[in-house]
Amino acid sequence: MIIGIPKEIMHDEARVAATPETVAKFVKDGFQVLVEKSAGDGALYHDEDYAAAGARLMDDPETIYNEADMILKVKEPLFNEQKGKHEVDMMHKGQYLITFIHPASPVNHEMVKRLTAQGVTAFTLDCIPRISRAQNMDALTSMSTCAGYKGILMAASRLTTFMPQMFTAVGQIKPAKVMVIGVGVAGLQALATAKRLGAITYAADIRPMASENAGSLGAKVVDTTVPPELAIGEGGYAKRLPADVLIQEQEALNETIKEMDIVFCSALIPGKIAPIIITEEMVKGMKRGSVIVDISIDQGGNCELTPKGDIEVKHGVTLIGVKNIPGLLPTSSTWMFANNLYNLVSFLVKDGKVVVDRSDEIIAKSLVCIDGELVHAGAREAMGLA
Ligand code: NAI
Repeated sequence: MIIGIPKEIMHDEARVAATPETVAKFVKDGFQVLVEKSAGDGALYHDEDYAAAGARLMDDPETIYNEADMILKVKEPLFNEQKGKHEVDMMHKGQYLITFIHPASPVNHEMVKRLTAQGVTAFTLDCIPRISRAQNMDALTSMSTCAGYKGILMAASRLTTFMPQMFTAVGQIKPAKVMVIGVGVAGLQALATAKRLGAITYAADIRPMASENAGSLGAKVVDTTVPPELAIGEGGYAKRLPADVLIQEQEALNETIKEMDIVFCSALIPGKIAPIIITEEMVKGMKRGSVIVDISIDQGGNCELTPKGDIEVKHGVTLIGVKNIPGLLPTSSTWMFANNLYNLVSFLVKDGKVVVDRSDEIIAKSLVCIDGELVHAGAREAMGLA
């Protein structure tokens, strides 16, 4: 079986779907691996190391798409400006694709329909279930870990003060205060990172379990006042709150937010737009020089004022709405991502063949299309096909 690793074509995307280490593991398992030349440069994984690991280096991505049985990528298929051709059009019937597809997102509907029509069997990494058996395949969790860590570093570097408490010859400097709203995977990593940098940490989440986790990392838990029966939905995930309850939460958090140096926003309800937790009025009440890093920006953001994909100062507060934060940590995020993919491929391939057992939860949730049929429940619902 031949695995193809094309270079990512999204602007500024430095990650790649394999490292020399995972290539060596694939080769040892009996796969052939084709890697596009310079595909790993942005993440500091170099051609000579891929070659030494047993990969065949390719000049032309189209040849990779032609020859490979399975394509591994980071981003959804996009239009390749250099080739003047969409990546979907380089794919063929019976080929496997594993990447982040976000098939329910309206911007991807057309692409997903074309992928289906091409007869590609595609799996999307954003829908790998968060179950223990799939933990080592869960690229979304890996990327959230990267975003939690790097997001705090980005905020810290914008602060005009120290993060830790300092005892100097001229006196004592107080530590910064950092609040994390939405303590999922990214939020927990943000709390741990802020703590390591010496900040005093605060946390708020509507799921009692998440608050407990935050408390165990030494954060002061701020009560959102949201009753658990309104907060928790199917599978233990957070639910969308009624408008009046969300206002109640904003009011409950406002006094603490006013004291913070950094507010890290990572509140999300799966498959929905992010709840607005910080309004413009609340930003006006914050300390001058404080920083909001809003990593839920792809889902619209938790702060009303966050600029999409940018950094701006409004009412004296720096608002960070940078997207693709894991891409700013490309060596580590690629290392995690590539290992997640290696584990997923090892799970899917038995005796040199991909076995699509649709009764298996991991496959059922992540399969997007197969044999010309669009099967992904979320995408079908979003397209009105359910
Ligand atoms: P998660 O699903 O593990 O955590 C989200 C948390 O938000 C949950 O604990 C949930 O209970 C909480 N929450 C929901 N509604 C809330 C509310 N009204 N108030 C307080 N808490 C609430 O998600 P994960 O993996 O931690 O990701 C968080 C966000 O970060 C997502 O929007 C994700 O897309 C984004 N992300 C962004 C990246 C970037 O580069 N910008 C990279 C990785 C993740």
